[in-house]
Amino acid sequence: MSVLVVLALVAQDRLAGGQEHKSYDYTKYHTMDEISAWMNQMEKENPDVVSSMIYGQTYEKRNITLLKIGFTSATPKKAVWMDCGIHAREWIAPAFCQHFVKEILGSYQTDPKVKMLFENLDFYITPVLNMDGYIYSWKDNTTRLWRKSRSPGTGDCTCFGTDLNRNFYANWGKAKAVTDFLVANQNQLLCYLTIHSYSQLILVPYGHPNISAPNYDELMEVGLAAANAIKAVHGKSYKVGTSPDVLYANSGSSRDFARLIGIPYSFTFELRDEGEFGFLLPEDQIQPTCEEAYQALSGIE
Ligand SMILES: *[C@@H]1O[C@H](CO)[C@@H](O)[C@H](O)[C@H]1NC(C)=O
Ligand SMILES: *[C@@H]1O[C@H](CO)[C@@H](O)[C@H](O)[C@H]1NC(C)=O
Ligand SMILES: *[C@@H]1O[C@H](CO)[C@@H](O)[C@H](O)[C@H]1NC(C)=O
Ligand SMILES: [Zn+2]
Repeated sequence: MSVLVVLALVAQDRLAGGQEHKSYDYTKYHTMDEISAWMNQMEKENPDVVSSMIYGQTYEKRNITLLKIGFTSATPKKAVWMDCGIHAREWIAPAFCQHFVKEILGSYQTDPKVKMLFENLDFYITPVLNMDGYIYSWKDNTTRLWRKSRSPGTGDCTCFGTDLNRNFYANWGKAKAVTDFLVANQNQLLCYLTIHSYSQLILVPYGHPNISAPNYDELMEVGLAAANAIKAVHGKSYKVGTSPDVLYANSGSSRDFARLIGIPYSFTFELRDEGEFGFLLPEDQIQPTCEEAYQALSGIE
């Protein structure tokens, strides 16, 4: 872009807003308030292709909101679900959801492939699913590594905080907003993506060692293609497989739930790194982590 074009855009921006328009910094971690404001901004700036929907409430009575992205269509479309931030301390996950939204909104008018996605699919994207936990993880350094939601445990769980992911079947109440949405839209949903960190893994159903998905071969093929796409961007290696094969058994995950109710493509992404910084991934790795994961997903569709 030439200097003059940049100046023209800046001028347009300032005239339109009546004040200096601060552009959102996708290379930083953001607070829940900033992310909520960003969601509103995305909707306001892209009214033709972005709308929002409240589909549940957290334990602390916050609205859980998703962004629905795609061209409106008179005929029914298929859909892709993406959630980030089930686990509070995995800050790179919400950062990725935001990066993903920025990328698709920035390219659908010029990139025929993304345009085709917008014509055929709706994206349902929840940047921060566990809002209560995320806010708590921002409180101070003693809460930064908080994993769970903020509801008191029930039953034989004496811990404070419920693990939203492991409780997808076991404790429907806590993840009810998501399970209700998935079940209500199960025929429309083609793909379920849940974004986590860390470990550099792409996990396919099922987390139970003795059950395999009917389309396991296909899931592995797609997962391996995604890992190759990641490797090509910054050279990072991601392992692909079922959880018992590459990690540990974790049946009860949202990924398994999605596959179980008939959503054909269901994946968990565990983003960077492999443990050097772990959940405390430095901000200078946000951009490269999101770039490679974005390439992985552009390959999936
Ligand atoms: C949740 O959304 C409803 C409907 O838009 C609104 O009336 C309510 O104030 C919101 N609650 C919070 C906590 O933002
Ligand atoms: C939080 O971290 C900072 C910087 O590492 C440190 O100076 C401060 O003492 C910590 N505070 C608490 C409550 O641990
Ligand atoms: C899986 O099957 C094997 C062989 O039948 C059995 O020994 C093992 O206990 C099963 N594992 C689980 C977690 O059910
Ligand atoms: Zn996680």
